[in-house]
Amino acid sequence: MGYTKIDVMNETGYVVLDMYDQAKDPKEWLDIEYVDWKSSGVTRFAPLASAFGEMECNGFWNHTPPRTDKDGVWVQANTDVAPILKKRAEEPGANIGRCRVIELQPNEYGDALYNMHQDDNNRLNPDGTGWIVRGFFNLSDNPDSMMILREDRFDPSTEVRIPLPAGAQLIVDTQRFWHAVWHQGTEPRYCLITSWESGPELDAYIAKHHGKTRIENYPVTPELAEKAEAHFRRRVDERAAALAAKGIVDESVKDPEA
Ligand SMILES: [Fe+2]
Repeated sequence: MGYTKIDVMNETGYVVLDMYDQAKDPKEWLDIEYVDWKSSGVTRFAPLASAFGEMECNGFWNHTPPRTDKDGVWVQANTDVAPILKKRAEEPGANIGRCRVIELQPNEYGDALYNMHQDDNNRLNPDGTGWIVRGFFNLSDNPDSMMILREDRFDPSTEVRIPLPAGAQLIVDTQRFWHAVWHQGTEPRYCLITSWESGPELDAYIAKHHGKTRIENYPVTPELAEKAEAHFRRRVDERAAALAAKGIVDESVKDPEA
């Protein structure tokens, strides 16, 4: 039968919505509680919805009973101080799974490439229901930081670089893409990440906010791109060698987060 997917999301695997006027809102993300949760890069997460409403960030499939990334339960201590973020996650009216704010420390282009991973959003997702995709609403103003997407992990020509000023709103099929954020700056980056179920509600929300399936890549010089690629490949090789020395075959990155 297959999963319900959204036509406009299938086109390139992501959409960029109209900018949100982030400046009009209080910075709720500075008042919520974060827990240490290792993802791509140096991160912490503040859960707004979790498997059972607890202050934790684990994938829903790692709980008992294991289940897919749907029917998240609001974490009251955090939603009490972040009602606007909760409302924004609810606006599409689609089923919500994990919903959290990520705090990411600055990093380098080559390390961001190394951090790229595919999410495991649809583990245990029943056939015939909606494919899980993820919304990224940038909260802090990071116009020189970007979401890096690659259809092919080792093919830079497939790279998309979406800038992340405050109010940037993206929806990405993060199971399809290798992805990570390159965050330039001196302060942490904050972003609301929500797992949504594909279906007519999310489709209508994307249309309402004029989802665009293509953007102009954030510019990088060929020299910088080459240097970053070399750094990325070196780290991949070093990791493989380190694991091989222990008799482990490197099966590459499988990170459910970020
Ligand atoms: Fe991710």
